[in-house]
Amino acid sequence: MSKNRYNMTNTHLLMHRFDYVQPATLKEAIGSLQEFGKDAEVLAGGTNLLVWMKMEQRAPRCVINIANLPELKGMNNKDEVFLIGALTTVRQLSTAPQIQETYTALAEACASFGSTQIQIMGTIGGNLCNGSPASDTVPALVAFDSKVVLAGPHGERVLPIAELLLGPGEVKLREGEILTAVRLPIAKPNTGSAFLKLSRVRADLAKISVAAVIVRDEQRVVDCRLAYGSVGPTVLRAPEAEKMLIGKTFDAKLALRAGRVASKAILPVDDARSSAWYRREVATPLTQDALCKAWERAGELREAKPVETSSLSHKVPVSFRVNANENYSITILVNGVNHQLDVAPNELLLNVLRERLELTGPKYGCGIGECGACTVWLNGEPVLACLVLAVTADESEIVTVEGLARPDGELDPLQQTFIDHNAFQCGYCTPGMLMMSKKLLAEIPSPTEDEIRDYLKGNRCRCTGYASIVRAVESCAEGTREGGSDAARV
Ligand SMILES: Cc1cc2nc3c(=O)[nH]c(=O)nc-3n(C[C@H](O)[C@H](O)[C@H](O)COP(=O)(O)OP(=O)(O)OC[C@H]3O[C@@H](n4cnc5c(N)ncnc54)[C@H](O)[C@@H]3O)c2cc1C
Ligand code: FES
Ligand code: FES
Repeated sequence: MSKNRYNMTNTHLLMHRFDYVQPATLKEAIGSLQEFGKDAEVLAGGTNLLVWMKMEQRAPRCVINIANLPELKGMNNKDEVFLIGALTTVRQLSTAPQIQETYTALAEACASFGSTQIQIMGTIGGNLCNGSPASDTVPALVAFDSKVVLAGPHGERVLPIAELLLGPGEVKLREGEILTAVRLPIAKPNTGSAFLKLSRVRADLAKISVAAVIVRDEQRVVDCRLAYGSVGPTVLRAPEAEKMLIGKTFDAKLALRAGRVASKAILPVDDARSSAWYRREVATPLTQDALCKAWERAGELREAKPVETSSLSHKVPVSFRVNANENYSITILVNGVNHQLDVAPNELLLNVLRERLELTGPKYGCGIGECGACTVWLNGEPVLACLVLAVTADESEIVTVEGLARPDGELDPLQQTFIDHNAFQCGYCTPGMLMMSKKLLAEIPSPTEDEIRDYLKGNRCRCTGYASIVRAVESCAEGTREGGSDAARV
């Protein structure tokens, strides 16, 4: 149910009440969607839905959490297609070697996403079903000629992505339908691809994005597809530009001419992120760069192999329902201590941690996923607690900044390094910075400055203490290398 208004409300609370349904199977989820009809919203990673609900743009009577459905998970390349489950996270896509090698534009699109936490929480299904013209996976998926698999009360159907997306916020899902997977054709040999995005800052939606896919034979273009984000009511192709490339000998001048033609095919508008004029101007060089990158990569293709993915949650699906005015008893392990709590469907994990468990380390900043101050680890992954319903965390393990120190009170080496480097001023962002930096060091024990800045791009420091924060993380990594610290222990 969408409302035609855009109110910034108190984002620290989710005021709206709703029934909560957690199905254990796809069939059950479809049944619940049919039961509630247009009054229901499906919840996957929640990075769009929770923000919309907080901002009073959506007010569903029922939220159906599909995040644990096994049928929507995993990737494989069976039957001449590469299948990506709808619950595959943006992070899983950006880091899977097979996606990086074979569907490079998709991996690059996912790596360009807002923040590490949003990449870890957000799913490919959610990115398609939110219907945003700025969704980053969509241009790459359209350039690869992908299709979506939709399951509903009357069975399964397959649609080209362009037919799913009707306009801003509008997707062609029939009542009771759930997007279960995305199908990419197995890439032909000598295929190369690239995704480029311009945004105001690294952690932002696109002013304009382009995905280019080229199939080459020696110096000739055999096939080419171009797709653009944020420059029209939905993702746009540039058929004239594609046509002028196919069959020609490729060089940078040809790519530039194609870019000029493509810049006339897009339909940009003025909005908060950019002007229509700027978007059209940069479309030309951006297209040229994307084409040149895709061309260079063509010929390096390795065959897509099956990929094992882990899920955001490690739970065995259990089905249950909670009425809007009732509570549900959850069990959570927080910093090694078990807690049993009665929570309402609209209670946020951040509120439970701060107000009921008095763990005030995780901070309230924006409340809508943009500052990272509320970051905690949920089953080992850093997530934004302001965008997690507490009921979905049942039987999960949570670590807050309070859990970093040792039981005897001695600070974690990373915390000590932050103090040694004065890596904080007011300290408001520090808990989020620590939770992210600790996780980064566990993943990459010796990160470069660029890797540190990229991993922390979703954590805002309003005192702008970034230089000392980066120095502290670098110093901690050096300590680990020299065997003087166990900062990478998670
Ligand atoms: C701070 C911030 C930064 C962001 N940056 C980016 C960015 O850089 N690029 C970008 O593209 N997006 C960005 N987003 C948007 C968002 O994170 C992505 O669109 C994400 O992929 C949504 O996935 P989700 O699983 O969280 O979706 P949800 O919020 O769970 O769902 C989104 C919508 O899709 C529906 N839905 C979800 N899954 C299914 C399914 N399988 N079948 C049917 N319907 C479904 C839901 O009902 C809901 O209407 C950002 C969001 C925030 C808050
Ligand atoms: S408070 Fe959660 S991201 Fe800002
Ligand atoms: S130290 Fe003040 S917000 Fe970062």
